Parts: sequence; C-alpha cells; structure tokens
Amino acid sequence: MTGKITVVGSGYVGLVAAACLAELGHSVICVDNDLNRVATLQAGGVPIHEQFLPELLQRHRGKRLEFSSSLPDAVAASSVIFIAVGTPPKDNGEADLSYVESVAREIAQNLNGYKVIVEKSTVPVYTNEWIRQVLNLTAGPHADFDVVSNPEFLREGTAVTDFLYPDRIVVGADSERAAELLKGVYAPITNGSYYQNIDRIPEPDSALIPPPLILTTAKSAELIKHASNAFLALKISFINAVANICEGVGADIQQVAKGMGSDSRIGPQFLRAGLGYGGSCFPKDVAAFHAVARECGYEFNLLEEVMRINEDQRTRFLKKIRTALWTLKGKKLGVLGLAFKGKTDDIRESPAIGLIQQLLAEGAHVIAYDPAAMPRTREVLQDKITYADSPYDVADGADALLILTDWEEFAKLDLKHVHKLLRYRIILDGRNLYCKDEMEQYGFIYVSVGRQPVPLRQLARVG
Ligand code: UDX
Repeated sequence: MTGKITVVGSGYVGLVAAACLAELGHSVICVDNDLNRVATLQAGGVPIHEQFLPELLQRHRGKRLEFSSSLPDAVAASSVIFIAVGTPPKDNGEADLSYVESVAREIAQNLNGYKVIVEKSTVPVYTNEWIRQVLNLTAGPHADFDVVSNPEFLREGTAVTDFLYPDRIVVGADSERAAELLKGVYAPITNGSYYQNIDRIPEPDSALIPPPLILTTAKSAELIKHASNAFLALKISFINAVANICEGVGADIQQVAKGMGSDSRIGPQFLRAGLGYGGSCFPKDVAAFHAVARECGYEFNLLEEVMRINEDQRTRFLKKIRTALWTLKGKKLGVLGLAFKGKTDDIRESPAIGLIQQLLAEGAHVIAYDPAAMPRTREVLQDKITYADSPYDVADGADALLILTDWEEFAKLDLKHVHKLLRYRIILDGRNLYCKDEMEQYGFIYVSVGRQPVPLRQLARVG
C-alpha cells in the first residue's frame, strides 16, 4: 500500500502530477505556500490552461485530492513526498535550487517515520545528494528516508495525457525499499489497470500499451532528464539549421523533414522548423546542462551551438519581416500567437514575445490575438500592444499578418476573408502552418521558414 502522497508545488508540474496521481486512485495532498493559489484551488479555480485538468480537478477535489498550505501536516500524513517547486534559471544559466532546499529542510523538520522524497522538478545532477545532505543535517543521522529522482517528461498543453500515457517512467532510486514504493505509485499505469477504466482520460492516438518503468540510479535519472531535453532541443536546432540551407538552395524543409523523419532511427517528431524552441523547459534546461557539464570538467560546446541557432532563428525571421515591409516604423503589424507554442497560455521564453518587443523597439504598432495567452501577455507588455478579439480583428487594416504560434485555429483561417481585411496581402508564417500553393492561389505574398517565399502576383484568383 502506498499511503498518502504529498505533492509540494502547484505549478504546471505539481498540479498536473497531483491531479493525475489522484486519478490513478491515490489520496493526494497538494501543498503550496502561496495562500491565494491554495484558496483558488480549494474554491474550484483552475489557475493554468491545460487540457483535461479542469475535469480531473472537478472529479477529485475534496475527495482524493486536497489543497493545503501546511507542509508539516502534509508531510506527517504522507509516505511519499514529491517536490515539484520551481527551479528558475540564474543569470549564469545554473538552476536556482533555493526553493528545493527550503522545502527539503521543512520536510526534514517534520519527518515521523520512513518517507520517500521524490524530486520531480527539473534539477541538475547531484541535487539528489544535496537533498539527502540537507535532510541528514536537519533531521539527524537516524532519520529514516530515501531520496528518489523521478523526472517528468510532461509537455505543456498535453501534460495530463503525457502523465497518464507516458512513453516511459524513470525512477532513479538507490534503495530497494524506495523503488518498491514508487513502483506502487505508478502500478495502475505499468500494469495497465488504469487503461481498463471506462472513465479514463482518453488516450492519445497511440495504442494502449503499458509503458516500462525504467529503474536507474538517482544520478542516471537526473541525467536522463537533462540529456533528453537537450537532445530534443538539438533536434529542433538541427532542423532549423537545415531549413536555413533549404532557403539558400531552393529546397523545401517540409519535404526534407518528411524524408528524414521516415527513417525510424531518426523519427518524425521534433523536426518542425520554425522560430525555435521556447517555454519554461528547453531554454533553461539546455543552459543548465551546459553549466553542469562545465562544472564537472566537460565543455559541451555542441549545446552552445544549439542555443546560438535557436536565437538566430528569431533574428532571421525579424530580417524577413524587414525585407517584406522595408521599414517598420509606423507600420501596423497583426500578430497571431503569443504563447511559446499552441495549446498553452504560457509565454515564458516565447519567441513571439521576444519578436514583438523588437518590433515595438523599431517603432511598429502591434495588434495581437492569442486564444489563451493574452492575460499573461498583458502582465508583461501591458498596453504597449493592442489586444484583439479574433484573428480577423488582427488582420483588419494590418500592413502584414505574422503567425508566431502554432495554434490549430491559425491553420484554418478563412483566407478569402483575411485577404479582404489586410491592407497589404503579406503573411509571414513563422510556424509553416500553410501550404504555399494555397497562399499563391489567394494572391498573398507568403514568407515562411525553410521554404521559398511566394512572391506578389498581380492577378489574384480570389472570390
Ligand atoms: C518540453 C518537453 O517536451 C517535456 O518532455 C519536458 O518535460 C518539458 O519541456 P514543453 O516545453 O511543454 O515540453 O513543449 P514541447 O512541446 O516539447 O515544445 C518545446 C518547444 O519546442 C516549443 O517552443 C515548440 O514550439 C518547439 N518545437 C517543438 C519546435 O520548434 N519544433 C518541433 O518540432 C517541436
């Protein structure tokens, strides 16, 4: 029997993990020291935009899932404690682990019997050892606990299904007892019993094959997380670099990516060229992995190049905007997309926000629409830009339309209508959401990534 589970932190990772663990049948206490957030969650609020999360919170809140601001009470009641607090980047790229440390200290002060402390936040290798040391120093040498690394591989927007239908579960445990407890936590997934449940959250397209639980040492688990994210970021920067060559030689990146991705050794995912990666994970994790490598005496120069290509991708797109519009001062630019990717309201390290700031600095007026990320953007950009109610309001009278986030609805615009609304029929698509032929048919100037631009045509067959 697993007993109660505490999840410390109710951010993207903590809240999703808490809700999903309750969905798997566990009794979960989700703790946060932000009293307002706890009150919101207790009152039925859903503070983040995440598919299926409202359903899960509704299903389990007040039953198997409770919210609390008291870490001591939660620790005393639980046998497994997940740490899922933030690890924001410091100026030098290293992760700031002060939140993790203070949570570890508070856990240590409230140990009352054997507990497994699980690091779920993305942390550098050795964090496991540090947590162990903090617990030993605070709780004394006889404290009965284990520290386990159980990295998450959740993507924002699909985090709930990623948790319930993972490719693999990694448990880095240095003791048999802790490993057994964690196996019990994930048993409904690994033995497939959750997948028999008729009320289950719908599975993604893949078949319902229970995933493997990969048991490793704590250090290996910590490295698996960093290396996986760095490798995916590398894949994106690689395809973006190839896209730039496609532009130079007149090839088409979508054809190239399809041809490459059909090799099962390469695989089709994470080969979408565009404005580069953003979000709360990849930029931070690649920088942190680079810093960790340096600390242990290895210059991981490849990662520097991954970061450089990623930055360059935005600069190249800005140049394309300048080339299409000549000067930017006083131009009215319609922007579709603010979030760092579709299906999320997160704007952390969003290429869209960085680009908008550059456009504003050059004197352009920006009118923008995003299905979920406008409230968060308002907190950062305030009224430096105009917020629209729909993609068509954005296009109305704009000198050009910029597509900066891959929301599905942006790929299905009524192009005839957009054509009528735009002042100049120029579309710059940083996410390659449209087929060039379609754009040509409507008579747009269409500039995308890794494909030849569609030039101006005198006779547009519209109507
Ligand atoms: C990522 C990892 O996928 C996840 O395993 C980890 O736990 C957290 O970081 P997330 O940041 O939510 O998840 O988003 P993801 O879907 O992986 O995309 C990351 C960035 O890469 C986005 O900016 C996205 O637009 C970009 N991307 C992704 C591309 O530019 N091209 C691609 O082919 C795929």
